[in-house]
Order: sequence, then C-alpha cells, then structure tokens
Amino acid sequence: MLLDDWVKNEKLKVHMKQVGHLMKVFATLKGFDDLTVQKWYLAGLLHDADWDQWPEQHCKRIIGELEAREIDPEVIRAIASHGPRYFGVEPEHEIDKMLYAFDELSGFVHAYSLMRPEGYTGMEVKGVKKRLKDKTFAAQVSREDIADASSRAGIPVEELIQFVISNQGAADLG
Ligand SMILES: [Fe+2]
Ligand SMILES: [Fe+2]
Repeated sequence: MLLDDWVKNEKLKVHMKQVGHLMKVFATLKGFDDLTVQKWYLAGLLHDADWDQWPEQHCKRIIGELEAREIDPEVIRAIASHGPRYFGVEPEHEIDKMLYAFDELSGFVHAYSLMRPEGYTGMEVKGVKKRLKDKTFAAQVSREDIADASSRAGIPVEELIQFVISNQGAADLG
C-alpha cells in the first residue's frame, strides 16, 4: 500500500495514522455517510505521504500520484490545502479545514502524551495550552498555524484540543 511503500519513517507513519483517525472520527460524529467518512480518513492518512522521501516536493508529489490513481478530487483538494502558508491552496471545504486544523495539533498533543507517564490518560486541555505557550516545547509545531486553522474551521482551539485528547489515544497504529 502507498503509505508503507512511500513512508519509512515510523514517527511520520504514526502521525499520518493519527490524523487519519481524527478525521474519521470527526466525520463519523458528523453523521456523514460511509463513503464520505472514508474520504476524510484517506485525506488524513495520506496527507504527508511524500514528506519522507521528497520533502522539497511536499505535497505536489502525493497529489500527482493520487490524481494518477483517480482518487476522489475532494481528498486531493484537502491534502493540497493542508498548509495554506506553504502550498498556496486555501482550505475551502469542511474536509480541507479540518485536515488543516488537526494536522499540527495532532502532532503536538502526541508529543505531549509521550512526555506524560500516563500518556493520554488524565490529560487536560489546560495542560496542552500551557505547553503551547512554552515556545521551546515541540518548537517545530507552528502555533500560528494552529490558531489560523482554528479560526478558519470556526472551532475554538480548546475544543479542537479536547477532541484530539479524547480520540487520538484510540487510533489504530498497526
Ligand atoms: Fe504536511
Ligand atoms: Fe502532517
């Protein structure tokens, strides 16, 4: 499968599976039909597929591949817009906005879970927010993108954080 063929970095695979899981749960809770839920899952699962081998071509390479495979254009568009400051494609549809919103936050909350002995258990929004204010913690995660994505999605950062805390621990990483 494309994910395993293209991505050798285990940490990146975990990230992609976690974002895929969040997208799937969000779409399911919204009551979307199975096909739509699958699209949301796929967009999350594959959004960084080219980052491992071709970081300078991110995310052109994966878009080209998915187009060649005739994957649903909604999935491709979501992937193309997951970093509007970098890729020049604006998140427009809900699937685009939620992928952008979950991307950085998912990685950030995961990093936080790894430094907590209890992982996700007992994690609180205020703990995550405290780490967000500490610019040295997971410094590569853009706080600006997190705030921008939250405002575009129309969902407060606190709510997004709570959603990630509540659901990310159950992601299937196999
Ligand atoms: Fe990315
Ligand atoms: Fe990502």
